[in-house]
Amino acid sequence: MSMRPAGFPTGVQVFEVGARDGLQNEAGFVPTEAKLELLGRLASAGLRRIEATAFVSPKWVPQMADHAAVMRALPKGGAVRWSALVPNLQGFEAAVEAGAREVAVFAAASETFSRRNTNCSITESFERFAPVLAAARLQGIAVRGYVSCVLGCPYEGAVAPTAVAEVTSRLVELGCHEVSLGDTIGIGTPGDTHEMLAAVLRTVPTGKLAGHFHDTWGQGLANVYAALECGVATFDSSVSGLGGCPYARGATGNLATEDLVYMLQGFGYDTGIDLGALAAAGAAICTRLGRPQESRVARALLARRGTPPGPSR
Ligand code: HMG
Ligand code: MG
Repeated sequence: MSMRPAGFPTGVQVFEVGARDGLQNEAGFVPTEAKLELLGRLASAGLRRIEATAFVSPKWVPQMADHAAVMRALPKGGAVRWSALVPNLQGFEAAVEAGAREVAVFAAASETFSRRNTNCSITESFERFAPVLAAARLQGIAVRGYVSCVLGCPYEGAVAPTAVAEVTSRLVELGCHEVSLGDTIGIGTPGDTHEMLAAVLRTVPTGKLAGHFHDTWGQGLANVYAALECGVATFDSSVSGLGGCPYARGATGNLATEDLVYMLQGFGYDTGIDLGALAAAGAAICTRLGRPQESRVARALLARRGTPPGPSR
């Protein structure tokens, strides 16, 4: 086992968002059967926390219109914790009706992004979340929280670490068991990550935090490293780096899960994930979508095996 740098957590978790964050921005509708095949392969590769879909308005995000069919078809009661995004009580009720046992509400640290993404102010978004958290508590449903724009906003530019800390604390106070800090436009550097986390960690313990880095400016893995140094142990990523955000122009995919897992395994963490099976799952969905393979680890691994990694750029 390699030596881990000071401050690193003792164990890590990978939270796969490819089927939601990865696909939500795809122009052509991805058939439900293709989404289910991807989700099945991700589970078989050993991922244990997987965001499957989003119970958002199909007028806003048509790609997620089959949310109920996706959630209903997933095998429940096994080792995988399936999750779904919900913006309000309507989405929460639909998700639970379809069998979800974990959901995620999503807020932003930037006012303009909050309005563009969910048509309400930050304050109003919390008014929507309160009944979701209350209903979830009664029904024993776990609720994750997201904060977008933690290292920058596509509309407002710089975002103050104190604004991120405030929204994160409010989500925890409301009852979110974990808050995922999203660099929605993938613009932050490791120094920014340290500064932002220093502010958040004044009020929220590391055990409640996850890092959600997009790789737009090539800083994804470096930001994971910076967050590991601060003790953060859960990281969101998307197989083959699928993704983007419809309300954040220019945002490319999340950090690729294959790249994340390769680095974590290099530090001796037992992720329980079969990197070969994961890369094959990514190659299959990239081929199906005609999308370039964004994971360098998948490209290298599959080239070594003589398997095509999916379409090239
Ligand atoms: P609105 O139009 O203000 O909502 O949208 P409304 O309450 O006025 O309702 C209008 C219509 O939407 C009604 O239908 C409702 O029934 C329907 P109509 O009467 O017109 O036929 N509606 C819904 N339908 C399905 N599911 C629902 C739902 N709620 C209302 N849950 C709303 C407000 C929040 C619904 C809308 O803005 C929306 O769906 N936004 C979703 C945006 C989104 O999915 N963004 C991407 C995910 S966030 C992200 O990617 C960032 C993250 O990855 C972290 C990071 O990287 O930063 C998480
Ligand atoms: Mg995202």
